[in-house]
Formats: sequence, C-alpha cells, structure tokens
Amino acid sequence: MPRPKKKKTTPKGSIKTKKPAKPTKKRKPVSKVKATAKKKTAKKKKTSAKVKTFIVSKKTPQLLRGFKDILPTEQKYWDLIREKINLLARDYSFGRIDLPYLEETSLFIRSVGKETDIVAKEMFSFEDRGGDNVSLRPEATAQVARAYINHGMLNLPQPVKLFYIGPMFRYDRPQSGRYRQFNQFGFEAMGDLHPVLDAQMVILSYNFFKELGLDVNIQINSIGCAECRKEYKIQLVNYYKTQKTHLCDDCKERLTKNPLRLLDCKEEKCIAISEDAPQIVDWLCDECKNHFVKVLEFLDEPEIPYNLNPRLVRGLDYYTKTVFEIWPVSEGKKAQNAIGGGGRYDNLIEMLGGRPTPAVGVAIGIERTILQLKEAEIEVPEKEAPDILIAQLGEAAKRKCLVLYENLREEGIKVAECFSKDGLKNQLDIANKLGVKFTLILGQKELSEETILLRDMEGGVQETINYNKAIKEVKKRLGIN
Ligand code: HAM
Repeated sequence: MPRPKKKKTTPKGSIKTKKPAKPTKKRKPVSKVKATAKKKTAKKKKTSAKVKTFIVSKKTPQLLRGFKDILPTEQKYWDLIREKINLLARDYSFGRIDLPYLEETSLFIRSVGKETDIVAKEMFSFEDRGGDNVSLRPEATAQVARAYINHGMLNLPQPVKLFYIGPMFRYDRPQSGRYRQFNQFGFEAMGDLHPVLDAQMVILSYNFFKELGLDVNIQINSIGCAECRKEYKIQLVNYYKTQKTHLCDDCKERLTKNPLRLLDCKEEKCIAISEDAPQIVDWLCDECKNHFVKVLEFLDEPEIPYNLNPRLVRGLDYYTKTVFEIWPVSEGKKAQNAIGGGGRYDNLIEMLGGRPTPAVGVAIGIERTILQLKEAEIEVPEKEAPDILIAQLGEAAKRKCLVLYENLREEGIKVAECFSKDGLKNQLDIANKLGVKFTLILGQKELSEETILLRDMEGGVQETINYNKAIKEVKKRLGIN
C-alpha cells in the first residue's frame, strides 16, 4: 500500500534558513535490487537492451570469486613460463595466434558440446546490447578452428601450426587450482591426420614440464571415431544400467545425456563401478586401432613415459581417436586437476562449416603449472636486477640526475633511481636492497665541481670521477663495450 504523503509544515515562529538537505534514500540490499531487476526483465523481455540501474555499494570493491590479481611478486613464474612457451613454439614451428575473449555462444555449443559441463554449467554467457548471445571463451580450440575457416587457412601449406596464450573463463566451483578466470597456452596442428602429430603434442607437453623441472604423468587413450563409439556406447550404457542405483546423481543423468563421461566421474563409488566397465579400445575399428598403435610407437621411440588409461575420455565433445592428459605426479592415480590435456579433433572444422580437416592439439593450464612449481619448491630466477643506482642530494642534483638517468638507459645500462627520496642513507639502503653493483652519487659539492661519486657497493669504496666521464667509466666497470 502506498504511504499517505506527509504535509510539509514550518513550525510557527521558526526562521526559514537553507532548505534542509534531502534525506538520503534508504538503500535496498543488492539482493533485492537484483531480484527487482530480474522481475523487470521477465516482464519486459523484449526491451532487455534497456540500461538497468543498480545501487552501487560504497564498500571497497572486492575481487569476484574465482578471479585473481597477479601481483609483481608472482610475475617471475609467468615470465619463466612465457619464455618456455615461446621457445617451444620456435622449436616446433608454431605461429602465434591471438583470439578474442568473446565469441558467439553457438561456437562453443557446436564444438565443445551442449551437454558437456563446460557448456551446460560453466559458461559466462549473456545477451549483448545488440541482442546477440555471446560467451566469454571457456577454451580456445573451437576459436582456432573458427579462425582456420574464417581466414581460409586451408589454402596454406598443411598442417597449419598455431599456438595461443591467454585467459579462459569457466564458472567452475573455485578451489585450489580451479578458477573462474584462468590462463592456458595451447598448441594446435590442423590439416594433417598423421599419428606422428598426436605424438608430437604429447612430446612437447612432456618436454615443457621436464624443462621446468616438473615430473608429470601422461595418461593416454583412444576414444575412436563416431563409428566405433556407436556400438561401444550401447555396451557401456547396458553395463551402467545394471549399476544405476549405485551411481551418483550426475552419472544417472550422464547415462542418457553423455554416457562416455560416466567413465571419468570423480566420485569414489562411480570410480569403483568404472573399473569393470567395457573398454573403448576393445571396440576400436581397424583404422582407429592402427592410428593409436602408431601414436604409441612414436612415443616409445623417444622413450616418453605414458600410462594407457582406458577410462580417459576428456570433457569436451569434439575429440576423436587420441586423447591424453598430463597429471601432476604428486596427485597420484586419481588426479582431480589435470595440468594439461588434449587430443585429436578430426571432425571439428567440418562441424563448424569448414572442409573436412583433421586436427590435433593440447592446452596447458598456467596457474596449475605454477602451483606445481611452488609445490616442488623449484627455484625460479628473479627479475634481472639493475647494475647501478643513481642517488642525488638536493633539487639541482635531482634535475641533473634525471638527464643522467636517461643517458645511462640509452647506453643500455640497467639503471635504477629513487628520485622521490632525499637523504643519502635512505638511498644507499635502496641500492643495497636492489643488489646493484655501483651507486652514482651527485651532491651539491660534486655539482659545483662537475664531478660525481662512484661507490662500489660490495667494498664500500667511493671514488670521485669527472661527471662527463661517468657513463664511460660505468660501462668500463660493468664490462659493457
Ligand atoms: P581442458 O582439459 O578443458 O582442455 O583444459 C586444459 C587445461 O586448462 C587443464 O588441464 C587445466 O590445466 C586448465 N584448466 C581448465 N579449467 C581450469 C580452471 N577452472 N582453473 C584453472 N585451470 C583450468 C581444453 O581446454 C582443450 N581446449 C585442450 C585442447 C587443445 N584440446 C585440443 N587442443
């Protein structure tokens, strides 16, 4: 019921001063605002492009759950990983592709699969202001396939080998190693069906971790082609039907919607049931079987260790034939969080409207790799320290040092400064913390005599040198020509 409006009254004899400040409106809790916004959308679906107004909280904004900042102290891990990725790409001849973060939702429905957890439960999807259904990318293989078609890469020499690095978005339940925004790098080779390429994806992934000093466990399987899976799925469903009452709720649903995924359920009781399930390798057609045998032979030759895992099926619908995952050795046989995964996807490009084009690839999670590096206490090189610091005393010296700083930089010398600081002790403390080899000190006296002090930070010895010869002297001491 609307409240009756109160009449405005001015008490008799009171002096009218300024208008009293309007009382601030009582703020609705955010949940109510959301609920109201939802109701309105339901009522006016057709005008959903209208701007909605939300009351902005005055609390300090916090990170969203499952999202994180990567602070400077963490960057050494990221630098190391990026460096390794670039080297791998150079050595195995992959060209970099940068893809947008937002795509038509249908791209992922058609590729990753409507019934997969990623599409059914984890996508950040919304209608944009123009009414298009778009999603933040949950993975990039589908995008690479789209780009292959869009840019006519079919006309390039095959296979086309591309790699990417960047953030992916999945509305997963956040926990250690599982985020809603996380970073992957991936390698994809399109336009060639040779099994050596499947093996090469495993080899380069294995080498990436080995070169970082991490021990990993490669799990590999073949899930065949649509033909071999047809009969296998019937056998699988028949087996699982006999166990239906013991299955978790998700698996009961998988039984009708996505039977292959019954095999990689992480629930203890379902794992036990999967032990006796029929194995896909026994149902592979000759072509798929031969392909798989060749992949394994190509892995045996360079002695890449792997485990044949008949229950490995992967959580994305586009795979055919070879599938593999990289598990951290520390997590043993039932790894919940693979650090990488990939496989062959021979039908994807055709499914998206391109010509039939076989392809294979892998993606590795960067955050999960960093967790492994930390867990294994692997030393990661610190950012390159500067060689020299400029310290200055007084305004005139500060001005002159600004120019000296730029001149040193131009000469390729790694130089640091602390121009906002005064006082020599303070500045020498900073020099020590940074671990520089020398500090150049310019004070009033040196300024008037056109000299500068060069302090060797290790021995603490200080020399006066001609200001105009400072750069030459520093270069000499640092062994720079
Ligand atoms: P995926 O197995 O879904 O495969 O993801 C690959 C890797 O991304 C995982 O092994 C994991 O390291 C990381 N990852 C996935 N979800 C999360 C998360 N919520 N938080 C942190 N890290 C996560 C793919 O995405 C396929 N596109 C791989 C591929 C490339 N297949 C063929 N080519």
